[in-house]
Amino acid sequence: MSIILVVDDDDQLRKSFHKLLTEEGYTVLTAASGEACLLEVREKTPDLVILDVQLPGINGLETFKSLNRIDPKLPVIIMTAFGTTETAIEATQMGAFDYVLKPFEIPEMLKIIEKAIEAGRFMRSPVDMDVSPDETAHDALIGRSPAMQEVYKAIGRVSSTDATVLIRGESGTGKELVARAIYQYSQRREKPFLVINCVAIPDTLLESELFGYEKGAFTGAIHRRIGKIEQAHGGTIFLDEIGDMPVTLQSKMLRLLQEKSIERLGGRETIPTNVRIIAATNRDLEKAIAEGRFREDLYYRLKVVTIWLPPLAKRSDDIPLLAEYFLARYAGKNGIDNPGITEEAKTLLKGYRWPGNVREISNVIQKALIFNRGTPLSPEDITLSVTEKPSVKETGTRDLDEALRQMIRKELMNPSDKHLFDACIDRFSGILIGEALSMTDGNRSRAAKLLGLSRPTLHAKIDKYKIRIETTVKE
Ligand SMILES: Nc1ncnc2c1ncn2[C@@H]1O[C@H](COP(=O)(O)OP(=O)(O)OP(=O)(O)O)[C@@H](O)[C@H]1O
Ligand SMILES: [Mg+2]
Repeated sequence: MSIILVVDDDDQLRKSFHKLLTEEGYTVLTAASGEACLLEVREKTPDLVILDVQLPGINGLETFKSLNRIDPKLPVIIMTAFGTTETAIEATQMGAFDYVLKPFEIPEMLKIIEKAIEAGRFMRSPVDMDVSPDETAHDALIGRSPAMQEVYKAIGRVSSTDATVLIRGESGTGKELVARAIYQYSQRREKPFLVINCVAIPDTLLESELFGYEKGAFTGAIHRRIGKIEQAHGGTIFLDEIGDMPVTLQSKMLRLLQEKSIERLGGRETIPTNVRIIAATNRDLEKAIAEGRFREDLYYRLKVVTIWLPPLAKRSDDIPLLAEYFLARYAGKNGIDNPGITEEAKTLLKGYRWPGNVREISNVIQKALIFNRGTPLSPEDITLSVTEKPSVKETGTRDLDEALRQMIRKELMNPSDKHLFDACIDRFSGILIGEALSMTDGNRSRAAKLLGLSRPTLHAKIDKYKIRIETTVKE
């Protein structure tokens, strides 16, 4: 359970925080001054500090500086009232995780807290390499296949340098784990490690998240904001899913890599940076370049040091090891005895295709353990999502989902329409109705039935989406 230390001289605020965060399942400590905060941190090693800037005695900024000296990896969220934002900005520049303006929205605050704790966990929890499957104390990269040996060697080689690293491989192959391992073994391990997921953040926000902005850079920019690149000064940024980064931002990234400097949005000042970039993607970057979705010059910059993670099926000798590792790990976490696994079950696992790679085997073992009654896992205990060939319907939906997702991502990166939501829904409806009509040879009654719509509704939609019926209409 994570421990949060709340530092504020306002009794009421400390009490509300205590109640709120305890309900959320955190262990909450409080302190009314900077001095008390430093004592608590030394004694109780919390996972996160929420720190007010205006404190009696040593002020918030000084407290932050001391915290940073005690433990540079301890995430700190600064709370500030209007008028003291400068201090908060200064603290983020020195590496504070984030700052919030009082009064704040609770859900917003809870989100930041969750992110900060995760960031702290990433920085602290080491990633072991090539350990025995029953050593589950730390996160570990498991596998002894030649392919994984190459990965370990590459991590060893690049860790000590400041080189930009590109990690490639299908989803679930361990890219994030490798990024964390590189950080943990690098000279920057005492400095921040920040993760930015390029897909999870909308592109306009992504730019300000990374580069920050000046007051007045756009409507709503009421004060300067320090971006993650500045915040991670001296540290490492993990740019996850870089293959999905909007093209406009790619040129800014290129400049960062070439010139080691940035400009905040709406700013003129060139700010020197000192950050190591580790990037990852499961995309086919070569194809993305051919399609104009990824800048070739950025690709060349990034790919100098590339670590490829092969699909799990291509390193099937590692499968039994991984199964044993996840068994030991989940049994340990749930406080149950490790039941072990039969040779038959291992053979079954080795023969499977693992489209979801290591993430999938981790899930499969976790599920198998839930229903297990203490006997070694046998083939009957194991449910693979596609033991036989997937039915046409299943593949169809999955492909459709992926195709749609791709289309939507493209649209979100380069919105061609101001009313993007409606435009997307219209487009989808148009395709759906068009398909239903072509399947019924233009018969509107049958198409309506097929879609579960009334005929008048279908008519209205055909008009709205201006669908042309090209098949011979037999009504
Ligand atoms: N070699 C490995 N040994 C042990 N655990 C692993 C290994 N590779 C991956 N994992 C675990 O599998 C899960 C998925 O790994 P990770 O998140 O690093 O994948 P990813 O390549 O980043 O996937 P995505 O492209 O979907 O983000 C994680 O829980 C990770 O800890
Ligand atoms: Mg990942």
